[in-house]
Amino acid sequence: MVRETKVSADDLILPLFVTHGLDVKLEIPSMPGVYRFSVDVLCKEAEEVARLGIPAVLLFGIPAEKDERGSEAYARDGIVQRAVGALKRSVPDLVVITDVCLCEYTSHGHCGIVRDGVVANDETLELIARTALSHAEAGADIVAPSDMMDGRVMAVREALEESGYTETAILSYAAKYASAFYGPFRDAADSAPRIGDRRGYQMDPANRREAMVEMALDIEEGADIVMVKPALAYLDIVSDASAEFDVPIAAYNVSGEYSMVKAAARAGWLDEEQAVMEILTSIKRAGADLIVTYHAKDAARWMAG
Ligand code: PBG
Repeated sequence: MVRETKVSADDLILPLFVTHGLDVKLEIPSMPGVYRFSVDVLCKEAEEVARLGIPAVLLFGIPAEKDERGSEAYARDGIVQRAVGALKRSVPDLVVITDVCLCEYTSHGHCGIVRDGVVANDETLELIARTALSHAEAGADIVAPSDMMDGRVMAVREALEESGYTETAILSYAAKYASAFYGPFRDAADSAPRIGDRRGYQMDPANRREAMVEMALDIEEGADIVMVKPALAYLDIVSDASAEFDVPIAAYNVSGEYSMVKAAARAGWLDEEQAVMEILTSIKRAGADLIVTYHAKDAARWMAG
């Protein structure tokens, strides 16, 4: 009765990976319990997600082919565009959020166009905006730019407005740190940079005030929800953000945070259910309104008792 923080299934967003093919359900070795699904299996999975009371999914695509300009990211018949259409037809009430980034689609694995060894911010913006628009056209409810290029929220907002997608919301990965905890995800999405790293466009883990500047800019540019990523090593940032801003705050409990718990639980070193519920409660206690987590289905089941 006097408990201050309660997590419920409707705080959660489940990330899902979609790939080409039929009848595909391939477990990601570094993320036990997380799969790459083909569109047909994805729709069945989404039905179960909705039945568990989880309101939203965050979609990541694994393209058939990668190239320098990440062409499949903004192709009308790209994997995410096809998956969104199928999901909205089969589970219309489930909120579909799409990750908007080029790194899964580029041959070099960077989040934008590479010129002379560096990511060209402005040239990338145009492709990011095209990607977001193609997701909206496919039926996405929320687009989530995760590339961390300067000015991307404005570019996405303008592209959406120009084409009449005034109802599509923007969830911005506003404070995204250059983190070691994305390791398993890069394995899942096959998106590790081939050369260099992402420190040119992701934030320095040592910086706290800079996160407020980044988030304020994104809100000004038109973000409806702002996200802090990763979550656990950055709960101070989540807390600052919820004190500072009046838009909903999301936190991304990332792949490395998930896999650490899974590995320890498998070894018998901790109790998975207790650890996961403690983690989710702490993220919510810090001030997150929404939590993106690979534990979402398990947590929803545990909470339903
Ligand atoms: C970029 C993106 C990444 C994640 C989500 N979007 C990877 C990165 O920046 O390297 C990581 C998510 C996770 O670790 O669970 N498109």
